[in-house]
Amino acid sequence: MCGITGYIGKNKNAIKVIIDGLEALEYRGYDSAGIAYITDNKLKVIKEKGKIVNLKEKVDLNIKSTLGIGHTRWATHGEPSKENSHPHTVNKFTVVHNGIIENYLELKDTLLKNGYTFNSTTDTEVACAYIDYLYKEEKDILKTLNKATKIFRGSYALGIICIDDLDNLYAVRKTSPLIIAKGDGENYIASDVPAILKYTNKYMLLDDNEIAKISVSDIKVYNDKLKEVTKETYEFEGSYESSMKCGYDHFMLKEIHEEPIVFSNTVNSKMDNLPDFSKYNQIHIVACGSAYHTGLVGKYLIEKYANIPVYVEVASEYRYKKNFYDKNTLVIFVSQSGETADTLAALKKANDDNIDTLSIVNVVGSSIARESKYVIYTKAGCEIAVATTKAYLAQLSVFALITSWISKDKNILKDIDKISNLIEETIDKNYLDIAKQIYKNNNIFFIGRGIDYALCMEGSLKLKEISYINSVAYQAGELKHGTISLIEKDTPVIAIATNDELLEKTISNIKEVKARGAKVIFITNSDVTGDFYDYIIKIPKVCETLQPILTVIPLQLIAYEVAKLNNCDIDKPRNLAKSVTVE
Ligand code: M6R
Repeated sequence: MCGITGYIGKNKNAIKVIIDGLEALEYRGYDSAGIAYITDNKLKVIKEKGKIVNLKEKVDLNIKSTLGIGHTRWATHGEPSKENSHPHTVNKFTVVHNGIIENYLELKDTLLKNGYTFNSTTDTEVACAYIDYLYKEEKDILKTLNKATKIFRGSYALGIICIDDLDNLYAVRKTSPLIIAKGDGENYIASDVPAILKYTNKYMLLDDNEIAKISVSDIKVYNDKLKEVTKETYEFEGSYESSMKCGYDHFMLKEIHEEPIVFSNTVNSKMDNLPDFSKYNQIHIVACGSAYHTGLVGKYLIEKYANIPVYVEVASEYRYKKNFYDKNTLVIFVSQSGETADTLAALKKANDDNIDTLSIVNVVGSSIARESKYVIYTKAGCEIAVATTKAYLAQLSVFALITSWISKDKNILKDIDKISNLIEETIDKNYLDIAKQIYKNNNIFFIGRGIDYALCMEGSLKLKEISYINSVAYQAGELKHGTISLIEKDTPVIAIATNDELLEKTISNIKEVKARGAKVIFITNSDVTGDFYDYIIKIPKVCETLQPILTVIPLQLIAYEVAKLNNCDIDKPRNLAKSVTVE
């Protein structure tokens, strides 16, 4: 989704810092990019449709500038185009914006009546014009921005330059994330930590409706009453290098190779302030995409081993439906980014209903982490590839821990000490040969029962999102109720069977598709052999709570190899964003 960077300082060239920041945010997904900077006390704006390289071709890095803002846009209001891309300038103000101003048409109406005209179809240009409009009356930037936060509805993070005050860079936010990073004789703004890591690892988080006034040497933050507030400074633990590719062809591959250490960091991390799990008689798990799929694994494990009913819901549904809970309900929110708009909204809903909330989040200090009563951090580090791999695996690890805490049965984690090595061993197998068997197909099926079905859903999503091949995940026993009619000669079926009790039943279902000509790729931890599959991927067998951590690896790597054979943009798949901050 959109990215913001901004710089004010005497030591570096603002243009270079901003472009570096935008490049570090490329993984979020975007369709145009732009920069605004001050040189010789004049504003210069350059914007281009498409990738940042297009913008770089138009920018002269030799020009001296000490103040600027930049943006990568992921279109919401209006098509991807140069006109619609940010920054937008209206009279004295120039802004970059993440999020959506919901009442922009109402505001635009007022502005049109007051003589404003518009060059784009964006809500951002309206926001910028409205700030300019308010400033004519207020004649003070802080008061103007404060008033704007009371009028703008929706979610926004804004980086702002006013031509009347070139000694300061301004920022304001509501719901959309924004950080202010501290340097020596220079300061930064950004929508996400990777944007600033090349230059500093110290940052503070702007809260809803706060306004930041940032100079070369000072950062002042004001609350909604324009009272100055003190902010905590965080230090990012990872390094800039760790967010780079380290010799791998793609971030996705690098991140899969980090899984052994991510597992060990997550399960060995110190976890304070955990809820008293014994008091809950039901659990809801709410998330989106892959995080939702880890919830399905969590449900299976907690119900089986801890005997508590668990309901898993997609956040965009949960937030709008009637939910049945009482004071003994725990609602768990799962999110890598901690900023997913639907998950955050569902969390706020549970908070409003006074229900205990626990989030499983990767990004420290993110909105979901901060809004939850209890937080467990996954220790996946910075995940850059849009397709989540290591963060998903870290979430599975946390659900294994939660299951053992609730059930109080330590035995269900008996294999925990060997998992890192087994992850490594599983990553090192050859998946390219299997990928070659399926990469030209347009339809691929994933089938499994019980916990393996949850893994099928993740395998299918991974393949779809990075290789653009249609695939579906089915409960193995359900196929014959309709979908089996789609199976014809050489249709690839990836069948997963890791549970001994369900093995025979799953094999019967595999035989049903094999009899109709399917090309079967069998993923199993058992020693069973036979003529019901064409290819077999044997994974190590461990206790059931930890098994999904190994089962998902072939699925991630098959998706990766298939996407690579199809020359897809693996780390930045089309139409997708890393952090989905719109509803
Ligand atoms: O940051 P989150 O974990 O809340 O993101 C949720 C989904 O958008 C995310 O898992 C998405 O499905 C991934 N691209 C899947 O690889």
